[in-house]
Amino acid sequence: MAKAKTAYVCADCGAEHAKWQGQCVECGVWNTLSEIVVQPAAKAAGAARSGYAGAAGAAKVTRLASVVAVAEQRSATGIGELDRVLGGGLVTGSVVLIGGDPGIGKSTLLLQMLGAIGQRMRSLYVTGEESLAQVASRGQRLGIALDGLEALAETSIERILAEAMASRPEVLIIDSIQTIWTELLTAAPGSVSQVRESAARLVRFAKESGTSVFLVGHVTKEGGIAGPRVLEHMVDAVLYFEGESGSRFRVLRAFKNRFGAVNELGVFAMGDKGLREVPNPSAIFLSAHAQPTAGSAVMVTREGTRPLLVEVQALVDQSSLGNPRRVALGLEQNRLAMLLAVLHRHGGAAVYDQDVFVNVVGGIRVQETAADLPVLLAVLSSFRDRPLPDKTLAFGEVGLSGEIRPVPNGEERLREAATHGFRRAIVPKANAPKKTHIGELEVVGVSRLDEALAAGFNV
Ligand code: TYD
Ligand code: MG
Repeated sequence: MAKAKTAYVCADCGAEHAKWQGQCVECGVWNTLSEIVVQPAAKAAGAARSGYAGAAGAAKVTRLASVVAVAEQRSATGIGELDRVLGGGLVTGSVVLIGGDPGIGKSTLLLQMLGAIGQRMRSLYVTGEESLAQVASRGQRLGIALDGLEALAETSIERILAEAMASRPEVLIIDSIQTIWTELLTAAPGSVSQVRESAARLVRFAKESGTSVFLVGHVTKEGGIAGPRVLEHMVDAVLYFEGESGSRFRVLRAFKNRFGAVNELGVFAMGDKGLREVPNPSAIFLSAHAQPTAGSAVMVTREGTRPLLVEVQALVDQSSLGNPRRVALGLEQNRLAMLLAVLHRHGGAAVYDQDVFVNVVGGIRVQETAADLPVLLAVLSSFRDRPLPDKTLAFGEVGLSGEIRPVPNGEERLREAATHGFRRAIVPKANAPKKTHIGELEVVGVSRLDEALAAGFNV
């Protein structure tokens, strides 16, 4: 095949350059340029026409009211937790990117999904990392009926697409996108340009053929999907598979979804028969303490549509460094620094000479601000070496002036805590119901940080 015309783009800002150079001229970042294929304009227009734009060629301005909205066609995958994260099932012609650490269970999940789909839809599993024998033996171990499943061990995008055009699968799995390469580029497989070009070809194939495509993506040390950010823009949904290596629980989270809500969580447990769904996960992220321990606080988070009880742990220790450490696992680092400043100013606890480590139990990531109050309670509990009373929980946003702000769905969170036998809840005043008790649960509404700390430590 003739060598295609190529250019160099910056992975950060997307600026195009005619030749390679160390620094992007547009945004000034170093070492972000990589080679891509440039399509001749005529060919690119043709691809667009067969994809989204009207058949007449030039697109024209249209009143949205006159456009007939076509509901996307969905089919259940047979794995309820996966359907939940996808927003109600697999959408025809959609491209879903699944990222996660090595060994977290991406290949297992997708193979189990194919098993659950079974004979209902034709599928093709393309493996670029494992041999067919490895895939088959894993399938057997998972107890999947293998007769309906077709697999292909191939890494060339040209040959994969030729196979897929011929066999016309309804579900196509590419495991993983980092191993796929195109003959059009000289760059090594796994490089930004190869990944981007291969993904673009697969997206085009999905839109033209109506095949639902799953791309498995590796993650970088920073936790993002390896390859250009543009990969996340190209696909319809980005899911992350998370979990702690020591824990058997795995959480599937939608980071972007054109067909459903984000922040919906799917929860699985990894066992010797593969992944098992956990449809009722509310209390699995609590660590089992026999008695209250210092540095621990329980919160109710509501990610997606379900409340979850989660434990936040903190360790505050005298620092030997000039610049004490602030480490947040499962929470946002900058927010921790801000909360510690609020604690100093409005809670009267100075931790500027202390190392502060905060961790969310179970490898789960909490993104909502309802974690603010439990984080500060855990920090103060560790700092003073005083446990919070048994069966106590808290949630609430903490503002810069020390006020405790309400969070959405307060009552639902409180009911969940009550069903799990909690006795005392420290929550924003606006989230507290008129009655002081929900069942056995006493609800303490607070409006300022010092009130909340006093309620937590009975002072
Ligand atoms: P895998 O799906 O290969 O991960 P990924 O594709 O994300 O790299 O998962 C492999 C891990 O899962 C491996 O550490 C073993 C574990 N596992 C089980 O515990 N039970 C099982 O039934 C299977 C298939 C895997
Ligand atoms: Mg794998």
